Amino acid sequence: MSANNSVETQDAIRLCQVADVAEGNGLQINLPERPPLAVFKIEGQIFVTDDTCTHGQASLCEGEIEDGVVECPFHQGAFDIATGKAISAPCSVHLKTYQPILVGDDVFVHLDKVSS
Ligand code: FES
Repeated sequence: MSANNSVETQDAIRLCQVADVAEGNGLQINLPERPPLAVFKIEGQIFVTDDTCTHGQASLCEGEIEDGVVECPFHQGAFDIATGKAISAPCSVHLKTYQPILVGDDVFVHLDKVSS
């Protein structure tokens, strides 16, 4: 790990390895004392969002993923995975996204740095 990487990952939380996430899928990450996160892999790129739908208590990792969009398994609302934007009713509140930090094969995020 380079000095630069250690600065980037200081206070960051390690979520998983890139290889743990299947292409075109989401992996639910449970962390203590906060709602779960979702790590998605879309065309080899990693994205991190909140896992819980903003409309209800559904896990978005259990939703269908197509063209970078995840469809909620409960009422078929949908979110753009890269931006967290709610793009389909009944979802209207955007999903929080987090900038992933990749160090080797490890995926980290700063939970206090919400991208959107
Ligand atoms: S809980 Fe996700 S659309 Fe209703």
